[in-house]
Amino acid sequence: MTKIQQDLEDLTQKATSALIACEDAAALEAWRVAYIGRSGLIPGLLRNIKDLSDEEKRTVGSAANALKRELEEKYQEQLHVIEKGASTRGVQATNCKLQAGGGHLHPLTLTLNRVHEIFSAMGFIIADGPEVEEVKFNFDLLNTPAEHPARGAGDTFMVDPMSVNGAEDLVLRTQTSPMQIRSVAAMQLHPPFSVIAPGRVFRKEKVDATHESTFHQFEGLSISETTSIADFKSVIETFFSAFFHADVVIRLRPSYFPFVEPGFEVDMSCVFCKDGCRVCKHTKWIEVMGAGMVHPNVLKNMNIDPDKYQGYAFGGAIDRLAMIQYGINDIRLFWSGDVRFLRQFDRVIPAKAGIQVDPPSRRAGVDAGSSPA
Ligand code: DAH
Repeated sequence: MTKIQQDLEDLTQKATSALIACEDAAALEAWRVAYIGRSGLIPGLLRNIKDLSDEEKRTVGSAANALKRELEEKYQEQLHVIEKGASTRGVQATNCKLQAGGGHLHPLTLTLNRVHEIFSAMGFIIADGPEVEEVKFNFDLLNTPAEHPARGAGDTFMVDPMSVNGAEDLVLRTQTSPMQIRSVAAMQLHPPFSVIAPGRVFRKEKVDATHESTFHQFEGLSISETTSIADFKSVIETFFSAFFHADVVIRLRPSYFPFVEPGFEVDMSCVFCKDGCRVCKHTKWIEVMGAGMVHPNVLKNMNIDPDKYQGYAFGGAIDRLAMIQYGINDIRLFWSGDVRFLRQFDRVIPAKAGIQVDPPSRRAGVDAGSSPA
């Protein structure tokens, strides 16, 4: 038996037993990527065939192709089993919970509530706005250049104007940043003010363990005559320290967002290690949000005089905070409706008012497969 034939046989064994062990959609997807996906082991093996003699190419090639077909079929079967199983399990678990008289909050709601609480305690007003947004608010008034790639149908979900009686150009908002303009107008805010707007956003993303086509952001805006980057740094350090119950330091890296100047990416010091770990990818820093000083054009679009007032804006992702906090390793779990995942949060006590209320153990023990921590 040649080496490649032996490899093929080993791989068959490994792939089959790993497939049977997949108990949920996330594990099955990881299996698909690892074995039969484009960069998976089986296509990898097929690529190596080119180095064999013609005779071997024929025998090994047809065996590998047959294996690939077989695994694809088994994958479909397993997918069917999981989908069927999940829906039955879901119903039973829901009934159980109903009989027991209790449900509990979704991890994203828990995280969102915590964000509300901490910013409210620091004097931020909370604002809410539409998920179907006018192009004007999502891009134009935020100083976004006409040729910016995010404006295209490749990145953004466009709303068919016919479905809304030919109203303004509409999109599913790609960010909560339009709430900067909207909240100032809707609440007639005059500086000094600080506002926070959490909400759901939508993007044409290729969905994988770290990307979803819909997720949640929180947008912050704070304006006065003197608001500075130092104020931003202090507020955001206070926020992350309260959120993670740790002494968090942040650092700013220069970046570009059309609605701020200067703009920066914000990293927080890793709250799980001192010397590097999986969560911080051994860098000791975790990227947490984008931010900057509000661009004068955007201030003008808010009817605020840029010669008199200044301030900062920031936007972070609630889903990402929840993943870091609870050690969740696959963003798709949030929308999976899988009760085996959700049930793990019935132990999590909803936070009460005040910014230092939760025991540090809140992030413990919630894992969906292996925890990144
Ligand atoms: N809207 C940006 C995004 O979704 C995030 C962001 C960056 C918001 C910088 C801000 C900011 O307010 O100043 O990627």
